[in-house]
Amino acid sequence: MIAVHPNLHEVEQASSLQRRLYRTLRETMRAMAGRISGVANWEAKKMLARHIWLDAEHAEAVRSRVLELRFPRVDVDLEVDAALIRVLEKLPSTLSDEEFLGGVYQVIKPAVLAAVERYLKQSDPLDDAPSHRVLAIVATELRDELATFDVGWANRPASGRKAAQPWCEWLGEAIGHAGGIFGRDSAAPLLESAGFSDRPRYEIAPSPARDPRWLPAVTQVPPRPPRTPQEQQVWVAIDHVNELWACELPAAFIWHYPGMPWSLYRDTARWAYDEMRHAMMGERRLLAYGFEVGIDVPMVPDHWVGICVRRGMEAMLLAVHGLEQGGPKWKAALKEELWRMGDPYSAQDCDYDWADEAGHIRYGQDWLKAIFPGAPKSELIRRTQEEVALWKEWIAGTHRSGEHGYDAFLPRIEAKCAQMPGLANPEYFRPLGSSAATASYEAADSA
Ligand SMILES: [Fe+2]
Ligand SMILES: [Fe+2]
Repeated sequence: MIAVHPNLHEVEQASSLQRRLYRTLRETMRAMAGRISGVANWEAKKMLARHIWLDAEHAEAVRSRVLELRFPRVDVDLEVDAALIRVLEKLPSTLSDEEFLGGVYQVIKPAVLAAVERYLKQSDPLDDAPSHRVLAIVATELRDELATFDVGWANRPASGRKAAQPWCEWLGEAIGHAGGIFGRDSAAPLLESAGFSDRPRYEIAPSPARDPRWLPAVTQVPPRPPRTPQEQQVWVAIDHVNELWACELPAAFIWHYPGMPWSLYRDTARWAYDEMRHAMMGERRLLAYGFEVGIDVPMVPDHWVGICVRRGMEAMLLAVHGLEQGGPKWKAALKEELWRMGDPYSAQDCDYDWADEAGHIRYGQDWLKAIFPGAPKSELIRRTQEEVALWKEWIAGTHRSGEHGYDAFLPRIEAKCAQMPGLANPEYFRPLGSSAATASYEAADSA
């Protein structure tokens, strides 16, 4: 029986309520991570990437608090919250982006916020002070998340929002049927409802969705190296903004591989958000130069098309890990070159991007260990090199054959670059082959 007296919570109640909260945060985050590649809208993708990271941090903080309490079996006894988890597993099994976003942001997150607020109200701020600190942060950031969602939701088509209502209603009822978030699990089977409870488990599509406003292309890597300092600035920004593919990939791992250690999911949520930050760095520079993302420059998931569609998710892990290993050297050289040329903004973007990469290489190694346990290191190195080589061949092949899809973009990019202001020290721009930054432009796209 859950205590209803104000400020009275036994330790065991505190522990089990927060454990259930941790599981809700974790499983909702995993559903969002899996579904991000299937969401088409660019603004929604950016929102989800940030919220995946925030939610993982919330889950981590609540989990740590549970481990301090007397009943610290946080990662076992999944049966205790089985009915709740059965509902949360359905979150990405949606027929539209509106259903998905409505389910997460109009049903689950408000219920989580209500549970947190009720916990804060009903527990003792002195006895349970560490929980209060953690949950106050969770509540504040959740309110921010919901405010961000409201802005984007208002811009979505009314027909889509209306069509999502039955799904959201079922989800709300199913959560209640499972015992709610602030309460005990009912252990009941999933609330049956034709067309909702029988939907199959969500699977990651081999190629992510892209915003319907964006023009089609095949590769984001330009078919030739930059020829002017301004083109160098734009080429770097195109590479950055297209790191969207590298956000969607680790996020997809979080959903695609269930039952992994929590620390791996938490790190990977950060990895996915870092890559979205890198993409947003590129978008910010392009907007400053007067370019429209997806219209003046391509926004395409060429790594997914070139690797995942043909060779699957494991090949993607090996390829991204291989590409990331070249990242620090490439971005460090670019930082120096851009700084000397007189572009401190792009230089700073590369500097912070480079700072993130050490973490990404470690996360990639952790995933390799998790997906290929017992595989000899030499075998993993060989397969990584093989996947990177196949990817480079694919890109080079599209450039050779002219099937890169850049024909519509390149003349526009060249015209806009010609209008960009000059840099203070253009003599520091190094044409192809004469600096570490541009020596292998064609293959030196990064993650
Ligand atoms: Fe990156
Ligand atoms: Fe990275």
